[in-house]
Amino acid sequence: MVDYKKIGLVNTRKMFAKAVDGGYAIPAFNFNNMEQMQAIIQAAVETKSPVILQVSKGAREYANQTLLRYMAEGAVEYAKELGCAHPEIVLHLDHGDTFETCKSCIDMGFSSVMIDGSSLPYDENVAVTRKVVEYAHQYDVTVEGELGVLAGVEDEVSAAESHYTKPEEVIDFVSKTGVDSLAISIGTSHGAYKFTPEQCTVDPKTGRLLPPPLAFDVLEAVEEKLPGFPIVLHGSSSVPQEDVDTINKYGGALKAAVGIPEEQLRKAAKSAVCKINIDSDSRLAMTAAIRKTLAEKPAEFDPRKYLKPARESMKKLYIHKIVNVLGSNDKLLEK
Ligand code: G3H
Ligand code: 13P
Ligand code: ZN
Repeated sequence: MVDYKKIGLVNTRKMFAKAVDGGYAIPAFNFNNMEQMQAIIQAAVETKSPVILQVSKGAREYANQTLLRYMAEGAVEYAKELGCAHPEIVLHLDHGDTFETCKSCIDMGFSSVMIDGSSLPYDENVAVTRKVVEYAHQYDVTVEGELGVLAGVEDEVSAAESHYTKPEEVIDFVSKTGVDSLAISIGTSHGAYKFTPEQCTVDPKTGRLLPPPLAFDVLEAVEEKLPGFPIVLHGSSSVPQEDVDTINKYGGALKAAVGIPEEQLRKAAKSAVCKINIDSDSRLAMTAAIRKTLAEKPAEFDPRKYLKPARESMKKLYIHKIVNVLGSNDKLLEK
C-alpha cells in the first residue's frame, strides 16, 4: 500500500472547495508519456496552478500503470525543481470501470479515482460507486462518480447518443454513494468529433461549423439541488481549428472536427464546475507540431527534434487553458 501523501501528491478535496468558492476550475489533463507530463508540470508551475494528472485505461495499457505512477511521483519533484515550493498535483484514475481497477490504483498511490458507472442501471451505478467510496475514503483518496451518459467512447463505455444527467437523481446519488465530486452530462462528448455537421450551423464569416450550446439549464438545475457541490465536466476539448488545419495541411485527414467553444467552458468554470477534463486538444497540439516538423525537415530522424516542438506546443496550450479558460492560475493554497 503506497501512501500518496508520502510521495507529495494531494487529493482533490481542498482544491475543489476553493475552486467552487472562487468561480474557477482545476485542469484535469490526461497524460500517456513523458513529454505530456513535462509540458503539464511546466505549465502548472509557471502559472502557479493546481493540476490533475489523469490516467485512462488506454494510458495504463499504453504506458503501464506502475510507470505512470512513478512518473507522477517524479512530477512532484520536477515541479519543486522548477521552483514551486508546494506543488498541488493530483494523480487521478480517469474512467475507472470496476471496483478492482479503482482499488489497484488506490493501493498503488493514486490520490483520486473516478468510478464510471454511468452506463450501468442506476442502482448498480450506486452500488459500485458506494463500494469504491468506502474503500477509497479509508485512505483519504477522493472519488468522482458519474450520472448521465456522454456520447462517444469513454474507454470501455461507448454510447451512440448522450443522455443528459437527470437533476432529480443527483441528491439521491450523492447521498447514497458519498462521492466527493460528480461528473455530469450536459452535451459534451469525448474526442475530436463532438458534434455531427448536421447538429451544427455554419458561421457565415469563417465557414466553420458552430456547435449547439451546452445544456446550461441542466447544470443550473443540478447546482440548485446540490449547492456548492463539486461538478466535473468531461469531454471539454475545444478542438482548435488552427491545429486541425495544420494537421490537414501536412498530410492529415481530420474532417469536420468540432469541439466545445471556449466561451462556454469559461461560463462553466465560473459555476460549480470545478474540474474540466482535456485530452484531445493536447493530442491535436502534439500531432500538429510533429507533422509540421517532419514535413519541413524530412531528413530529421532524432525523435527529440520533433518531440521538443511538440512539447512546447502542448505547454502553450496548457498555459492558455489555465489562464484564459479555466482561471486556475495563482490559486495554489500555499505560496
Ligand atoms: O476519456 C477519454 C480520454 O480522452 C482517454 O482516452 O482511453 O484513448 O486514453 P483513451
Ligand atoms: P476530450 O476528448 O474532450 O479531451 O475529453 C477528455 C476527457 O473527458 C477525459 O476523461
Ligand atoms: Zn472523460
